[in-house]
Amino acid sequence: MKYRIAPLFCRPWTLNGMSPRLIESHYEHNYGAALNRLNSVTSELEALNVKTTSAQAISRLSLEQSTLLNSTLLHELYFASLGGDGRNVPDTIASALTRDFGSVDRWRHEFVALAEVLTGDAGWILVTFVPRDGRLINHSTSDYSESIAGGIPILALDMYEHAYHIEYGANTTAYIAAFMRNIHWEAVEARYTDAMTVSRPRALDQPEFKDVPSITPEEVQEMLSSGQRVQIIDTRPRHYSTRAQDIVDGAVWRDPERIEEWMASLSKDEPVVTFCVYGFHIGCQSAAALRKAGFDARYMAGGHYAWKAIKGPVKLFG
Ligand SMILES: [Fe+2]
Repeated sequence: MKYRIAPLFCRPWTLNGMSPRLIESHYEHNYGAALNRLNSVTSELEALNVKTTSAQAISRLSLEQSTLLNSTLLHELYFASLGGDGRNVPDTIASALTRDFGSVDRWRHEFVALAEVLTGDAGWILVTFVPRDGRLINHSTSDYSESIAGGIPILALDMYEHAYHIEYGANTTAYIAAFMRNIHWEAVEARYTDAMTVSRPRALDQPEFKDVPSITPEEVQEMLSSGQRVQIIDTRPRHYSTRAQDIVDGAVWRDPERIEEWMASLSKDEPVVTFCVYGFHIGCQSAAALRKAGFDARYMAGGHYAWKAIKGPVKLFG
């Protein structure tokens, strides 16, 4: 793989308080150097005889490659974040920032705070869209390797000294202010719009139970804490439950193989939540059987372990 240089996205002569000299030096000596080094490390890695090279040597090169790849990606995003007037935030991105941070102003304060804390250290301040959550997040990285997995960064501020030193010396506050004055919001918004088209990671699919409604452990907790009456039935298989040490606090265990016997003791006036160990089959089957018999039953997604993973209360079983 040969990585290609990206042309400079911003027009340096239009920037306010950031000179062409600063941008040219950054583009040529830092972005360019990272790209060249990325190509040479990639060639080196591709040419390795992986059967005779030590795992440590492969790992070192791979780590260097990912660091350099991130450096090129983030520098391209940095140059593509500049070139606007920084003030007028278009509607779509303004609404997204308001949705996720409370207001554009609140977003700005949080973003600048992250940058100011990084003063003296190298790193990046990023705004990233996370498709899984459908929301934006501010975050800082102390080197090139920390990014949000699956996230799509849409705005980048380079806090490495080489990004400002020749113009601002150690005055990072002035550099951060200059960056904020030059944000190209239209370009940020366009990247946000593109990022929004990326699908969320695929959820667990259980087509055989697609007609059986589920409930999350968090929702069950909310029902309990709001005082709503709910019948929680642990239907982990008998062979499993005999060695289980704990049970969801508020649940009763019932043998899923004898559901026809115990379902008569349930009330049809209160919702029923069933679950098994991980939320795959038994809890779903129990909920399906109860629904067929006229109960308002749902299965708890993720089962016993999802409940424990969110620190839901449990008690000793047996
Ligand atoms: Fe840089």
